[in-house]
Amino acid sequence: MKADVDPNLIVYFDGQYRPMRDARIGILTHALHYGTGVFEGIRAHWDESAHELYLMRAREHYQRWKHNSGILHIEVPLSSEELCAITVELARRNGFRTDLYVRPLAYKCAQRVGVAFDDQNAFFIAAVPFGEYLHSDQGIHAGVSSWRRIDDNAIPARGKICGAYANSALASDEAHRCGFDEAILLNEAGHVTEGATCNLFMMRNGRLITPAITENVLEGITRDSIMELARHELSLEIVERPIDRSELYICDELFLTGTAVGVAPVTRVDHHPVADGEIGLVTHSLRQLYVDAVHGHLRDYRKWLLPVYAGGPAEREAQPAATSFA
Ligand SMILES: Cc1ncc(COP(=O)(O)O)c(C=O)c1O
Repeated sequence: MKADVDPNLIVYFDGQYRPMRDARIGILTHALHYGTGVFEGIRAHWDESAHELYLMRAREHYQRWKHNSGILHIEVPLSSEELCAITVELARRNGFRTDLYVRPLAYKCAQRVGVAFDDQNAFFIAAVPFGEYLHSDQGIHAGVSSWRRIDDNAIPARGKICGAYANSALASDEAHRCGFDEAILLNEAGHVTEGATCNLFMMRNGRLITPAITENVLEGITRDSIMELARHELSLEIVERPIDRSELYICDELFLTGTAVGVAPVTRVDHHPVADGEIGLVTHSLRQLYVDAVHGHLRDYRKWLLPVYAGGPAEREAQPAATSFA
């Protein structure tokens, strides 16, 4: 079992920086009962060589959060830039010199019983030290879930809406009980969508394939980063199209992407080895490129990073992978 977070951590709650133990919400909070909140997950990576903590694509995460909150008629009353500044200040006040996970949550805060919501909204931002989410160095074993991915016309999967995560929680729990590391969910049409907390990519016949954003998937920011790296560093053709379940069993490579998981190679699905059961060349290269990018080692991708301390990027350079898979 994972340890609880230190209650003395400073969080941003009710417009103030305060210890988490003083940030409390009432038991009748609308979002607690009906799932009417929208959250985000943002990573910061500590680079020991530069003594710097880099927030990864924080502005894009906050833009997504503001858009998605609008689905529940919640207006986050600050700009993405202001939210980034609060996050930097939060990391500084806690003196974090380690990898972080930042959790903003906007929610319906009325204290009453009744599902219809009103315009009483609140938000907070918490940041917690966070290491590896999936131990994926050797590749993981994923299982196709018996739970279907929630449909856009039920609760939009792209929304990061709290209530929709009961779907992810059920699928994750089932996967773990069955001995898998992660669940892969199909939509009602039977097509592959994504993992419980991550997007999915497959290599087949030299092309990188991922479900389109209309297949009930989260419009992942890591997904977008990986597509940019694949296109520009590996000259790969990327195809967004429906993926059948059986393609998972015959593809050349398979991996998952997300803020929490990074790039997680899948080497077995439903007890089938993916190709020879080893981590593939493209997966390995993209994983390395991603690790280098988020630590500020790739000049072209420093545009993604917001440094917490010095306000300046690391000086050290790593070479992008020279291999082309075109
Ligand atoms: C259901 C789901 N899919 C995909 C992702 C990956 O999205 P991102 O790369 O923006 O973290 C996440 C994590 O946020 C998620 O919860």
